[in-house]
Amino acid sequence: MIIDCDPGHDDALALLLAAGDSRLRLLGVTTVAGNQTLDKTTRNAQRILALAGATDVPVAAGCDRPLLGELTVAADIHGTSGLDGPDLDVPVAPVADVHAIELMRRLLAESAEPVTLVALGPLTNVALLLRTHPQVHSRVRRIVFMGGSTERGNTTPYGEFNIVTDPEAADIVVRSGLPLTMIGLNVTHQVRATPEIIGEFHGLDSRTGRVCAELMTFFAGAYLRNFGLADPPVHDPVAVACVLDPALVQTVTAPLAIELTGTYTRGATVVDLHHRTGRADNAQIAVGIEAEAFWRTLMKAVSRYT
Ligand code: BDR
Ligand code: CA
Repeated sequence: MIIDCDPGHDDALALLLAAGDSRLRLLGVTTVAGNQTLDKTTRNAQRILALAGATDVPVAAGCDRPLLGELTVAADIHGTSGLDGPDLDVPVAPVADVHAIELMRRLLAESAEPVTLVALGPLTNVALLLRTHPQVHSRVRRIVFMGGSTERGNTTPYGEFNIVTDPEAADIVVRSGLPLTMIGLNVTHQVRATPEIIGEFHGLDSRTGRVCAELMTFFAGAYLRNFGLADPPVHDPVAVACVLDPALVQTVTAPLAIELTGTYTRGATVVDLHHRTGRADNAQIAVGIEAEAFWRTLMKAVSRYT
């Protein structure tokens, strides 16, 4: 697996899940501007991997803005650092001296088997990779991305943050012809970091457990302030979990398109669940999750850390 991300509180948990579960091999982590600026998301990815003791996993920084337009970060949700809450002052491994898309190209070329790309931020890096190096298509097993919704959005009424931040990139990815799985808000809002879950993280009695608890405590405050929602949805780890254990997430096949021109709906994910448009199926769309089993998988991975 290669993870492209913008940590981000939920990205951090996704990285801990991927690095902590022995069923998968995390080949590399690439970063993109989104929740915060690229320098901050990159630093945060390095910090989380250091916390996980996974400093051998290469990290490369990618695009510092969407393909078109300006970047709007989500400081209201993730704070000024992108990972506000815990003290994450840990020594980190150096960042790779290549652009994210070059690291992805190399990892894909070197892998004996096709690789799953998991995208947890705006799809800028992934789109640029597919356009710049079309030869990598055959090396990509599938792309699983957290983004969009079959219902309403969280950044605009119909737009979810990762897609709204770079709709053109999302459009390139959904029209790539590669096997795709969309993990949208309709599913991620079913896994919420309740006080009991935060208590479980504390109860692991480890530094990583405490960091997870502190991350989710900050995230809970942000969701309460911004959405009036008591327990925050834990979006990004769902994308990793569905690769680890496909039985955790129920999907349906459907046509998926990105709205690029809507007056009020730019960045919406248009999912034709009932096949009314005659468009061809191009994605697996997550529609359900085994929430309790998801939390057991995440807790087990985090409990492996000291
Ligand atoms: C997505 O946006 C980001 O704020 C989160 O990290 C997640 O990837 C949820 O809309
Ligand atoms: Ca993210």
